[in-house]
Amino acid sequence: MDRQLALEIARVTEAGALASASWIGRGDKHSADHAATSAIREMFDSVPIDGTVVIGEGEMDEAPMLYIGEKVGSRLGPEVDVAVDPLEGTEVVANGLNNGMSVIAIAEKGQFLHAPDMYMRKLAVGPALAGHVSLDDPIEVTLEKAAYALGKSVEDLTVMILQRERHSDLVQALRNNGVRIKLLDHGDVSGAIVSAIPECGVDMYVGSGGAPEGVLAAAALRCLGGELQGRLMVENEQQYARCLKMGIPNPDALLTMKDLVGSGDVIFAATGITNSDLLNGVRHLPGQRVETHSVIMRAGTGTIRYIRCVHNMPVKLKYAAGMN
Ligand code: FBP
Repeated sequence: MDRQLALEIARVTEAGALASASWIGRGDKHSADHAATSAIREMFDSVPIDGTVVIGEGEMDEAPMLYIGEKVGSRLGPEVDVAVDPLEGTEVVANGLNNGMSVIAIAEKGQFLHAPDMYMRKLAVGPALAGHVSLDDPIEVTLEKAAYALGKSVEDLTVMILQRERHSDLVQALRNNGVRIKLLDHGDVSGAIVSAIPECGVDMYVGSGGAPEGVLAAAALRCLGGELQGRLMVENEQQYARCLKMGIPNPDALLTMKDLVGSGDVIFAATGITNSDLLNGVRHLPGQRVETHSVIMRAGTGTIRYIRCVHNMPVKLKYAAGMN
């Protein structure tokens, strides 16, 4: 994939973040999500790809835009898989809390797991721990292996996890081992990603969250040299059948990086809507200017690029009107 695409994709996540930022703290998650989705859908038209949404807003009959199978892009470019979450953290943006962002990953066609909308158990780590830990181990063993590989004691590990009732046993086990825990309200894409960014001070992300979010996080971890292992939490026969329909032959199997995001090139971009450990959120500046922070990553080169952008909104809108 052409490296220019990375910048193009970040322009799309910027559009999503700018649109949904108007809804921060207004208690209306549907409008926040709709604003991000429409802006992203529109901005995709200018991106030179022949994209197919494999992770999006849902099935064709339940999502009017960015539904699974929808074609996006100008069609004048490579055939790619698109994984998109226009608003990762709908609740947090509606409530003005941390960890909301717009996220897109693209990969050469056929690489992304077509993850059904169900929970996935996840274990995410950075490059220093990739290949050293397993989701199949009991948590105590994982902590010991991680501490050994990092050359520190278990008590010095920091583990991130979503604050959920379903995680109470896991949190207790982590507490019993004396590790530091960073609890997240929402947004486990950024939660998993920060485990591979040393400045963020998180050694490992554990627990269950959305399966589509697992694929998005794995795309970023490919670029960062980290690893995400997952296992779908199939709860009933319908979900099992759904996995088969989506091309997952063994829904109970451990999902490796290759299963989740393939081994070809991947581009990942995210723009903060509200602040997180990964990115600052959208900030309104004097003079109708708006600041965004994005990160762009590319697996092919391993380059991680942070972009601070100041958008002059009146000029931007006038320009966009002239284009139509
Ligand atoms: P939404 O953007 O769909 O609201 O997802 C937010 C999120 O926190 C994800 O990051 C995470 O994977 C999932 O929800 C966890 O689900 P739940 O809130 O049901 O535990």
